Amino acid sequence: MAKKYIIANWKMNPSSQEEATRLVKGVLAQALPKNIELIIAPPFIYLDLVKKNLKKEIKLAAQNIGWAERGAFTGEVSGLMLKNIGCDYVIIGHSERRHKIGETDEMINLKLKAAFKTGLNPILAVGEKECSDDIIQILNSQIKSDLNGIDVSEIGRLIIAYEPVWAIGTGVSDTPDHALSSALLIRKIIGNLYTPDFAVDLPVLYGGSVTAENAADFIGQTGINGALVGSASLNIEEFLKIIKSAG
Ligand code: PGA
Repeated sequence: MAKKYIIANWKMNPSSQEEATRLVKGVLAQALPKNIELIIAPPFIYLDLVKKNLKKEIKLAAQNIGWAERGAFTGEVSGLMLKNIGCDYVIIGHSERRHKIGETDEMINLKLKAAFKTGLNPILAVGEKECSDDIIQILNSQIKSDLNGIDVSEIGRLIIAYEPVWAIGTGVSDTPDHALSSALLIRKIIGNLYTPDFAVDLPVLYGGSVTAENAADFIGQTGINGALVGSASLNIEEFLKIIKSAG
């Protein structure tokens, strides 16, 4: 059975260590299906706590990475720090960072380079802002700029999450058909930039209002390798159902 990725993006939640511990322990309540790579992405401040509470087979992701290696960068966290605390993955280019914080494709490109250099697996989030946007133009432009100057020999650990911004946190998910055609478009762009074989093997996930009810419709598609889950990952019961439906 093909491997599927389920990523819990806690965003800027929860507000206390007690609640973070409760969430992690809740996830452990259910045996993990064999084909699932489960990844928890808490805020930086809970990375250590989550890592200490997790079983080995569940992986840790950061939600952001500083592009510099060390030094005078107040408020930033380096790839080496993330690696040393036990992260295997890092989310880069999430739309909330692109549109609310003002991260540009140039910054995202530097962050991807930093992640590859430190041996982290980057989960690059891309997607159009409005339903009516020219998705071909937007995905082409984001992917080409974000991966600019990154060689095929370095890119092996990349994961791409297709996240239409209009579907994030709105309760209105994409349709499984449209998400699949967007995933195919992403593979086509990657195939042109790198190699067709790499594009076929590249894990492409869907994110945007994934719930226990609709998760299987996305994750069940052969061209979609999993889901990036936001708000539903903060509800243990619902998140466990999502994991189960992907197994
Ligand atoms: P959502 O968030 O599931 O709450 O829509 C998804 C994401 O932002 O990754």
